[in-house]
Amino acid sequence: MKAIVQDTYGPADVLELREIDRPSIGGDEVLVEVRAAAVDPGVWVLMTGTPYLARAGFGLRRPKVPVRGRDVAGVVTAVGADVTRFRPGQEVYGTCPNGSLAEYARAPQARLAPKPANLTFEQAAAVPVSGMTALQAVRDVAGVRPGQWVLVIGASGGVGSFAVQIAKALGASVTGVCAAAKAEFVRSLGADDVIDYAHEEIDRDGARYDVVVDTAGNRPLSLLRRTLTPRGTLVIVGGGHTAYRFTGGMGRTFRAPLLSAFTRQRLRPMFSRERAEHLEELTRLIESGAVVPAIDRAYPLASAPDAIRHLMEGHPAGKVVVTV
Ligand SMILES: NC(=O)c1ccc[n+]([C@@H]2O[C@H](COP(=O)([O-])OP(=O)(O)OC[C@H]3O[C@@H](n4cnc5c(N)ncnc54)[C@H](OP(=O)(O)O)[C@@H]3O)[C@@H](O)[C@H]2O)c1
Repeated sequence: MKAIVQDTYGPADVLELREIDRPSIGGDEVLVEVRAAAVDPGVWVLMTGTPYLARAGFGLRRPKVPVRGRDVAGVVTAVGADVTRFRPGQEVYGTCPNGSLAEYARAPQARLAPKPANLTFEQAAAVPVSGMTALQAVRDVAGVRPGQWVLVIGASGGVGSFAVQIAKALGASVTGVCAAAKAEFVRSLGADDVIDYAHEEIDRDGARYDVVVDTAGNRPLSLLRRTLTPRGTLVIVGGGHTAYRFTGGMGRTFRAPLLSAFTRQRLRPMFSRERAEHLEELTRLIESGAVVPAIDRAYPLASAPDAIRHLMEGHPAGKVVVTV
C-alpha cells in the first residue's frame, strides 16, 4: 500500500510517499481502508522531533512509528478476533496511533466510532483529534454552563473552531480571538464577539470571562488571569511548541496548577484522551447540527507534506485534511 513515511526527524521534506506492507492487526484492532485523514500540530511535533522532550516518548533518533497522521475516516476491511463493536463494511472515524496517512491503517476498536451519518469522509477526518480536545476542554475541564462567557484564544484553528461551536451548544456566549481576516469565519461558527489579536489584547474588556480556553499558547498566565472572573477557569490546551525547541513552552503547564493553589481561579492544563465515548458525543453534536467541521483545504495523499506546511505556515481557517 502507499503511505507517507519518514526515516528521520526534520521538516516536511523528510516525508516520502512509499510502498510499504499493509498493517497486520491484533485481536482488539480494526483495519481501516482510509478515505481521508487530517493533520494537526501533533503531526508536526512527531515529524520534526521538536520539542526535543517529545523524543523521549516517540523515539530518540527517529520516530518509532514511521507513518505519519493520526485522524482517520474510512471503511472497516477486517477486524481482530476480540473486536465486538465493528464489522467489515462499516464507515468509521477516529484516531490511529500507528499512522493514518496511508491507504490502510490499524486502530484499536476503543479509538473508533461509527462515522456521523451526515458527514463526508473528509469532514469526518477533520473531527477526532481537534474535536475530542475541544470537547474535553470546554465540557469536562471547564464545565461550561448556559449563560457563561467563554473566551476561545485561537478560535480559527483546529481545536478553536470546535471549541467555539461546543461552547455555544452548551449555552454560553463566546468571544473568539483570531486574525482580522478570519473574524467573519469565527462569527460564522457562532462567536458573539471577536478580538483581532494583531490590534487588541485579550484583556480589552477586563475580567469578563468565566472560562478561557487557550489554544495559542503564547500569552503569560498573568495576562490570561486578568481576563478571568474571580472564580473563572483557565484551560491551557496549546503549549506554543514552535517557539521553544526543548520543552515546547510547557512552563505554563507546570506553573498553572501550583499557582491555582493560591487563587480562587482554576488554572488547568489539559491532556486530551482519545476514547470512543468522546467520538460518540461529538457524533451526537454533529448529527444534531450543533457542530459542523470547518475545512480549510483538502490535499491528495501524495501532497501530505504540503498539507503540513500549510497547517504550520499558511494560517488556515479550520482543519487541513488529506484525501486518500
Ligand atoms: N493539550 C492537548 O491535549 C492538546 C490536544 C490537541 C492539540 N493541542 C495543542 O493545541 C494547540 C492548537 O492546536 P490546533 O490544532 O488548534 O492548531 P492550529 O489549527 O494551528 O490553530 C492554532 C490557532 O492559533 C491561532 N493563533 C496564533 N497566534 C495567535 C495569537 N497570538 N493569538 C490568538 N490566536 C493565535 C492561529 O491563528 P492564525 O493562523 O490566524 O495565526 C490558529 O488559528 C497546538 O499547540 C496543539 O499542539 C493540545
